[in-house]
Amino acid sequence: MGKITSKFVCSECGYETAKWLGKCPGCSAWSTLVEESRERKKRAPGSRTIAAVPLNSIADNEISRFSTGMGEWDRVLGGGIVPGSLILLGGDPGIGKSTLLLQAADFLARKGKRVLYLSGEESLKQIRLRSIRLGIASDEILLLNEQDIDLLPGYVEELDPDLLIIDSIQSVFSKNISSIPGSVSQLRECTARIMDIAKKMEKAVVLVGHVTKDGALAGPKVLEHMVDVVVYFEGEKNFSFRILRGVKNRFGSTDEIGLLEMSGQGLVEVLDPSYIFLSRNQEDTTGSAIVASFEGSRTLLIEIQALVSPAGSGYAKRMASGIDQNRLALIIAVLEKRRGYNLSLHDVYLKVTGGMFLKDPSVDLGIAAAIISSYLECPLPINTVFSGELSLSGQIRAIPFLDLRLKEVEKMGYKRVVIPARAEKTGAYQSNLELIEINNIDDLIAAVMEG
Ligand code: TYD
Ligand code: MG
Repeated sequence: MGKITSKFVCSECGYETAKWLGKCPGCSAWSTLVEESRERKKRAPGSRTIAAVPLNSIADNEISRFSTGMGEWDRVLGGGIVPGSLILLGGDPGIGKSTLLLQAADFLARKGKRVLYLSGEESLKQIRLRSIRLGIASDEILLLNEQDIDLLPGYVEELDPDLLIIDSIQSVFSKNISSIPGSVSQLRECTARIMDIAKKMEKAVVLVGHVTKDGALAGPKVLEHMVDVVVYFEGEKNFSFRILRGVKNRFGSTDEIGLLEMSGQGLVEVLDPSYIFLSRNQEDTTGSAIVASFEGSRTLLIEIQALVSPAGSGYAKRMASGIDQNRLALIIAVLEKRRGYNLSLHDVYLKVTGGMFLKDPSVDLGIAAAIISSYLECPLPINTVFSGELSLSGQIRAIPFLDLRLKEVEKMGYKRVVIPARAEKTGAYQSNLELIEINNIDDLIAAVMEG
């Protein structure tokens, strides 16, 4: 019998400490540290069972990636699912993870592949009802209502699936660990066991992880370092639009996003995404600017809205949804310093439409334009897109991928685009757009006032 020790683990980030603390030193969350006991087993010295092999003798699995049936999902995965890889699909409960996986299972089954769908939280009847709604009926999708992860290798050996789906990691457990399903140590132990199946038995595995709001259940964040690929499924509940976002990928880039929409018949790909982010009538409204944001490998035209209103008492509020709060503060500071705008007496609210989070620095110009427009009560010129990065000196800096941005701007029917004068023009894309080249904030204001 080994020694039993106890420790406190953060269910948000996995931080471990010997004593309880109210605030996690790892992620600053409150009341997320939970006690877990762990039995330390004495290990016998191991005997070697694995031989080293020459690098060149290992099969190249890249060529055998298989598609999920949705280009948007394949793109985020780096071209499809790699056999022997472990993919973590995280997201809020009810966002559509099970639906996405059942649709992928159906596609693979129709391609002659076998899928083993282990459901720990929904009954087989519930899954059947969803499949009827989605019009899915296949003998190659095998359902398993099992929560004991220790039995999984036996099932995998017997059924020999090409893809294994575990829905969800919070609902399965291993008897090796005494804590309850959903605790940090159970999640880690079960994931390690599943990783073992993926690697040793060469099975592609998708693991569902609910993003949890309270400290009782651990979230997928504590597993990110253990798996090959991490994809988050995001969106607003009462909005049908969904975003697949790659966070980690051992087999591809993590910049890509996939755009899907939840319909009455499941998830469908969004083929012309810019339409979603643009509101229809832009005329005569102040504080609304269109930007061309480069996300992954494509450009999206997105509307940014700003509201600048006199602050009541106390501090002026700054609120940003869809961009980093610090970036908003920085743009406001540049406008105050370089133009003398009295924004410290005004609340500034900023919103990116469609629930997107934009990291591309080129949206600075659109943010600044939206704020100026709302502050001066002056609508921005219609049919105009803004693209450029703002430097602290008030200069507009050059941006990459100008050709690709111009192409999307023109495709979406806009007529003019405000860009940095220093932008590198390769001339590869000949557009009919009117290019307004600006050097600094003063030029931007001239361009805005003109509208
Ligand atoms: P689900 O896949 O069960 O979410 P998760 O596994 O992430 O918890 O999806 C649940 C929601 O999706 C539910 O609110 C109903 C909705 N939905 C549709 O709108 N259309 C559909 O075709 C399906 C199957 C579900
Ligand atoms: Mg589900």
